[in-house]
Amino acid sequence: MLLKLDKNAPTALVTGGSRGIGRATAMALARQGFQIALTYASRPEQAEETVEMIGSAGGKAMAFALNVADSGAVEDLFKYEIRDRLNLAGLVNNAGIAKDGLLLRMKDSQFDEVLNVNLRGAFVCTREAAKIMARQKSGRIVNIASVVGQMGNPGQANYSAAKAGLIGLTKTCAKELGSRQITVNAVAPGFIETDMTAVLDEKIRGEYIKLVPLGRMGTPEDVAACVSFLFSPAAAYITGQVLAVNGGLYC
Ligand code: NAI
Repeated sequence: MLLKLDKNAPTALVTGGSRGIGRATAMALARQGFQIALTYASRPEQAEETVEMIGSAGGKAMAFALNVADSGAVEDLFKYEIRDRLNLAGLVNNAGIAKDGLLLRMKDSQFDEVLNVNLRGAFVCTREAAKIMARQKSGRIVNIASVVGQMGNPGQANYSAAKAGLIGLTKTCAKELGSRQITVNAVAPGFIETDMTAVLDEKIRGEYIKLVPLGRMGTPEDVAACVSFLFSPAAAYITGQVLAVNGGLYC
């Protein structure tokens, strides 16, 4: 693929950067001075819209189609589009899906699908990014976990297991990669206004909001601000941590 990005500019790779939290994060990191490589799994028009929004704000971005559950595709993206073509400063493992259902009715395939995208996808991206960052002896990795990985949630055995796993992955990677000056942290959002939560009916939303001390849902920008901080020089000595952005829902 003809690369429209600058080879030397510090670049942040944001998986699932086409909409929601990923889009807000890509925009915040672009404002912070990073060039953005973002990936999307479907609806390319949303990814292109994000690229254009970043361009209009004076930044540079490019979108890549990628299913993070396809390890071969992830390896190819790093090998052919990133390793020798970009200056990879950071990775945000944001791509995620939910396939909710109660435990007694949850199918193996429903469990596997969520684990494969939300956890194994992040693992493979982290491994491939770490190969590059270890050589350059610098890098920031942020995993978008969830409050339900910390406290559980009925109907989300698959999703909460994946997000709890992501927190474990974060801590282990922080320990393994610290000597190479790579920081690895998780951000655990609470109940955030995106396509993922748009499917909930008004009554359930109302019930959730009652549980949030700050009395509102979070915005994608609330989460993006935290990722931005973890990518900033001010966060150089923070690694292996889980930063909650949940309005006090779990504390
Ligand atoms: P969203 O549904 O708006 O966006 C998800 C993004 O992930 C999209 O860009 C989509 O293309 C991408 N994606 C989905 N499957 C993929 C795959 N197989 N390979 C690559 N990319 C894929 O969701 P939202 O709400 O912006 O979520 C972003 C992250 O934040 C997810 O990891 C989600 O679990 C997490 N999160 C969201 C919360 C919320 O309340 N919205 C709360 C806590 C965590």
